[in-house]
Amino acid sequence: MDIFQQTEALLQEVQEAVINNPEELEAFRIRYLGSKNKLKDIFAEMKNVPNERKKEFGQLVNSVKQAAEEKYAIIKEALESSATATAGQDIDLTLPGDVVTLGARHPIQLVKNQIIEIFKRLGFVVEEDREIEDDWHNFTALNMPEDHPARDMQDTFFVQVNPDVVLRTHTSSIQVRVMENQQPPIRILSPGRVFRNETISARSHCFFHQVEGLYIDEQVSFADLLQTLDFFVKELFGKDTRIKLRPSYFPFTEPSAEVDVTCFICGGGGCNVCKHSGWVEILGCGMVDPKVLENCNIDPKKYSGFAFGMGVERITMLKYQIKDIRLLSENDTRFLSQFRAAF
Ligand code: PHE
Repeated sequence: MDIFQQTEALLQEVQEAVINNPEELEAFRIRYLGSKNKLKDIFAEMKNVPNERKKEFGQLVNSVKQAAEEKYAIIKEALESSATATAGQDIDLTLPGDVVTLGARHPIQLVKNQIIEIFKRLGFVVEEDREIEDDWHNFTALNMPEDHPARDMQDTFFVQVNPDVVLRTHTSSIQVRVMENQQPPIRILSPGRVFRNETISARSHCFFHQVEGLYIDEQVSFADLLQTLDFFVKELFGKDTRIKLRPSYFPFTEPSAEVDVTCFICGGGGCNVCKHSGWVEILGCGMVDPKVLENCNIDPKKYSGFAFGMGVERITMLKYQIKDIRLLSENDTRFLSQFRAAF
């Protein structure tokens, strides 16, 4: 090995040196940077290097020195900072641990998930979509053309510059979108937030959550709707729960009904929650109007279906006897933390 090769080897040695602690760092310093360091021996050979290569040799030796200095400085700093990070941390392992308080699911989420879980068992799949809708999907396709008086039932937030754009007033808009894109059989559940221009009070808010359902296939009948709802209320409120249908009106269903259940607080005997009637209203439903199917390119002669829709806030308030709907959107942890044990 000539002196050039020896110097190259030394450079490699410096680069590959492993240093894990202050002792190893000191050994490295003595070996490459100390008063009797290895470079000095090599440098002493300068006199034997031919004149024309002296410059090249000098540069090479210098690069080894630089590499050693840099490595020393970097590792020194790293060792010192990790030393200060752990300094003074005499950990008392006998101390009790910090209490990490668990978060709680929001009651709306709890009830929504419960509703979804029940219908999933009947083969319904969840479909979600946008909160900002156009007129067609929120109204017109659902048999509510412009100037239809039923539009007044749902006080709507319009985007002023373009009245064709609305905040959806119900999640039936999702059902329209699914029907436009899929042929039956369709069995979907559409949960989501909806918006209505209502005065905020203990009983109503300008936004709330709905879960709506839609089932379309050949020969779907009103009896299927009844069976489905009966199964649902028994699962959600208990097996003794009964349903009662009152004729009602929705533009997109015919016939339409509102569904009451026997009060699950008093069992039908009469209490504050059911206002002593023994029944509480929980949802709206009906057979999908053939015109709606037609609007979505589904043949009403071949297919029929039912739809239903419920307000999650309403069911949550009934279930947990919450007296003011505003509590559900105020994010007060004193209120929310009470649902920690609910699931
Ligand atoms: N979309 C209706 C509403 O928001 C609820 C509903 C859905 C009623 C399906 C009947 C059938 O008021």
